[in-house]
Amino acid sequence: MLVKSYGCQMTVYDATRMADLLGREGYAETQSEEDADLVILNTCHIREKAAEKIYSELGRLAIAKRGLNAQGRDMKIVVAGCVAQAEGEEVLKRQRAVDLVVGPQSYHRLPELLRRAASGERIADTDFAVEDKFRALPAPKEAQIRARGVSAFVTVQEGCDKFCSFCVVPYTRGAESSRPVAEIIAETERLVDAGVCEITLIGQNVNAYRGLDASGRESSLAALLDRLARIEGLTRLRYTTSHPVDMAQALIDAHGAIPKLMPFVHLPVQSGSDRVLKAMNRKHGADAYLSIVERLRKARPDVALSSDFIVGFPGESGADFEATMALVRAVGFASSFSFKYSPRPGTPAADREDQIEEHVKSERLAALQALLDRQRQAFNAATVGREIDVLFEKPGRHEGQIAGKSPYMQAVHAEGSSEHIGREVRVEIIGAGSNSLSARLMSEEAKA
Ligand code: SAH
Ligand code: SF4
Ligand code: F3S
Repeated sequence: MLVKSYGCQMTVYDATRMADLLGREGYAETQSEEDADLVILNTCHIREKAAEKIYSELGRLAIAKRGLNAQGRDMKIVVAGCVAQAEGEEVLKRQRAVDLVVGPQSYHRLPELLRRAASGERIADTDFAVEDKFRALPAPKEAQIRARGVSAFVTVQEGCDKFCSFCVVPYTRGAESSRPVAEIIAETERLVDAGVCEITLIGQNVNAYRGLDASGRESSLAALLDRLARIEGLTRLRYTTSHPVDMAQALIDAHGAIPKLMPFVHLPVQSGSDRVLKAMNRKHGADAYLSIVERLRKARPDVALSSDFIVGFPGESGADFEATMALVRAVGFASSFSFKYSPRPGTPAADREDQIEEHVKSERLAALQALLDRQRQAFNAATVGREIDVLFEKPGRHEGQIAGKSPYMQAVHAEGSSEHIGREVRVEIIGAGSNSLSARLMSEEAKA
């Protein structure tokens, strides 16, 4: 079995849950398609390119499947994730080689669906299931957790009620819902018992979290982080992705109060123009965003920020774009993602008549990315000479090297033995490349 994921952290998490579920059914994970009797594409629908990539991938898989069939073997092809949810039966029609289409809220039914597929049925299950997916999924085994390393995702919130006018997520992932606190604690404790020391809480709108606690009251993300920070053996906590309107003061304060909470916040702003933000239905202006940044820095002066940007939203003028550039200059981001607006079927912005020309989008994207790139390099350069803790996660690219992450999500590599993997180690940053930092491990004496 091979699960290939595209898109956001949510699909990465879903992939692990699918692999665990199917592991119980006797499917072993393979590294390549050639050895796989089952290939699951866990897909993303966010931009046109992402969705089109899936169909070209399916075309390739269809040929591989025919080759196998000619040898008397079979390979079941499953399309899961957001393309599955958005297009459903269309996927079965468009690519005959696909056996199953299963949405993000019904993949816990895969064992049963695969049994039906084995007898030749072709099914698209894109229900927003009434039963609780999380409760239906088996807990991962210790060996499975260990094989995935020391940093893990835990989904705490799913779906989105925000309906930004450009975005498919409210349609592919459904309404906002939060998992109960006890369930998250149990899942986290299980991961930590199996050696995980960094947990990233994930959700499409993670800071809109309001799961129920033991006394039946709604808990905020800040309260949840505070509770999880008390788990012994857990050394780092992160959360992503946040929406500015849900950035409660308590969550901002948590950055000053919880040492395990890493000083890095991914807070997409999309645009720096109030006019565009309004048309995007983001429900806040540029000033509100800047105020959050200011308060975060007050709570935790070294906090690093990252964002997502969309350029060329319908009607975006040159002045609107300049407002985005001005916001970027005002904040100074450590890293960012930026995209050209891509009209998505079924979303309000796609129907607007004032679409921006492709070459204008390209020019704006290039200018924005050049600025963001300079900021990222400046941020990286500023860590040179500093002593920080790095969580080493895996061997580096070269012999004798180990690689990990700084508190600020920077990739760091150092000369060191594999005994350091899986631990936070004090290092001195000695150099900054374009994509990673190099570091020297501090000796034990130097640390004391
Ligand atoms: N929930 C998160 C992000 C979800 S999608 C949030 O609210 O910010 C990840 C990113 O993809 C978005 O932040 C946005 O920048 C980008 N994106 C979403 N829809 C897009 C579209 N139609 N065209 C281009 N980029 C898009
Ligand atoms: Fe999409 Fe907006 Fe929801 Fe984020 S908040 S997932 S961008 S609709
Ligand atoms: Fe893509 Fe779905 Fe995530 S559309 S960004 S995989 S929620």
